[in-house]
Amino acid sequence: MSAGADPELVRSFDPARLSSAFYADPYPTYAALREHAPVLRCPDGSWFLTRYADLEHIYRSREHFSSDKKAAFGPKYGPESPLYEHHTTSLVFNDPPYHTRVRRQIVGALTPPVVRAMEPGLARLICELLDRIEAKGQFDLIEDFAAAIPVEVIGNLLRIPHADRAPLRAWSLAILGALEPVLSDAQRELGERSVVEFRDYLRELVADRHQHLRDDDLLSRLIREQEGGEWLSEKELLHNCVFLLNAGHETTTNLIGNGVHLLLQHPAELERLRRAPELITTTVEECLRCESPNQLGNRLVTERVEICGVELAPGAYLTLCIGAANRDADEFPEPDRFDIGRTPNRHLAFAAGAHACAGMSVARFEAQMALGRIVQRFPKLRLHGTAVRGGRARFRGFRTLPAAIE
Ligand code: HEM
Repeated sequence: MSAGADPELVRSFDPARLSSAFYADPYPTYAALREHAPVLRCPDGSWFLTRYADLEHIYRSREHFSSDKKAAFGPKYGPESPLYEHHTTSLVFNDPPYHTRVRRQIVGALTPPVVRAMEPGLARLICELLDRIEAKGQFDLIEDFAAAIPVEVIGNLLRIPHADRAPLRAWSLAILGALEPVLSDAQRELGERSVVEFRDYLRELVADRHQHLRDDDLLSRLIREQEGGEWLSEKELLHNCVFLLNAGHETTTNLIGNGVHLLLQHPAELERLRRAPELITTTVEECLRCESPNQLGNRLVTERVEICGVELAPGAYLTLCIGAANRDADEFPEPDRFDIGRTPNRHLAFAAGAHACAGMSVARFEAQMALGRIVQRFPKLRLHGTAVRGGRARFRGFRTLPAAIE
């Protein structure tokens, strides 16, 4: 364990009142929490956990912890609200048997052949984006590159018509934004509206797809299952499709954006990757570890349990800080060093256990292709202008990342 982190950072830490310094660089605070208060009681009564061993244990244990968020989201959104309906119907915020039923169908539709089949389309898309970047000379790595990839990939997986894709990103950002620890009225209102618009759009798409079922898209497969034995109601189908689009979208955008930024900030590692392109696999894992796109998860304690010497009673609400666990020196030697060859690298960026990310092979594949190709194609790629962080604690990424290639 690293020693000497500033205890003052713990005293002033409140997830409901985060400073701009925290959003810019949360890692000194995470180090202080891991060292001085690894299971911290927050002012609102919830608990904030930062050590790798504790998170891994909790993610892998279903005996004492639940993913069901009805009790947390009722007061947050109001039990009649579209945000409540959406988030409490998504598989990720549920326990068995509902979670098992929905997960089986989604995992069954995201098989290795499905991921491999993405390659030609993805290679073409990345090549087109790089051509456009080359023509521009100066560009935004988020808008012009990172964000343009996941929306196409998930759009293709569900076979959403290209002409309909424009609003997907904004809907997704608004719905996920409503998961932040603190929510303004404007954010809440936008989140509610986005759920309604997204759900209504998908309802029409599903009605149309019933007439045009195919073998090669995720939506057709889920509809077939709906018509067969493993029944999903219309509400369940729609909200889990909204969730899939959201789950695969901002997270992967952040992985690609954070990844390019990390490489540009570590020129020796960037050079190492250019000389040995086969390191792209471990590079992406190291980006996932160092700047985890999804920094926070939650669980509810269902049975009395002791974690790190602290007794937690049923009903305790836990925030699991993936971003802190992935920098824990008890698991990762020299945790703050960005090492693109790091092995082993058992990071928790995709969580672990029964709810481990169902789209991790899709995300890895997208990031390997995107990062590998941009760094090989543009030897003079560099940051150019002021990078602006997304300003979110749960999802860590950039709003804009200006860059140039000469
Ligand atoms: C870098 C990109 C990604 C990251 C960092 C990420 C991270 C995560 C994490 C941490 C969880 C667990 C949440 C919890 O239990 O609290 C999760 C769940 C999930 N993710 Fe991802 N994800 C990424 C990309 C994707 C993609 C591309 C897809 C779909 C194609 C996807 C689909 C899902 C699904 C369906 C779940 C729910 C699994 C369950 O509850 O059983 N994710 N993801």
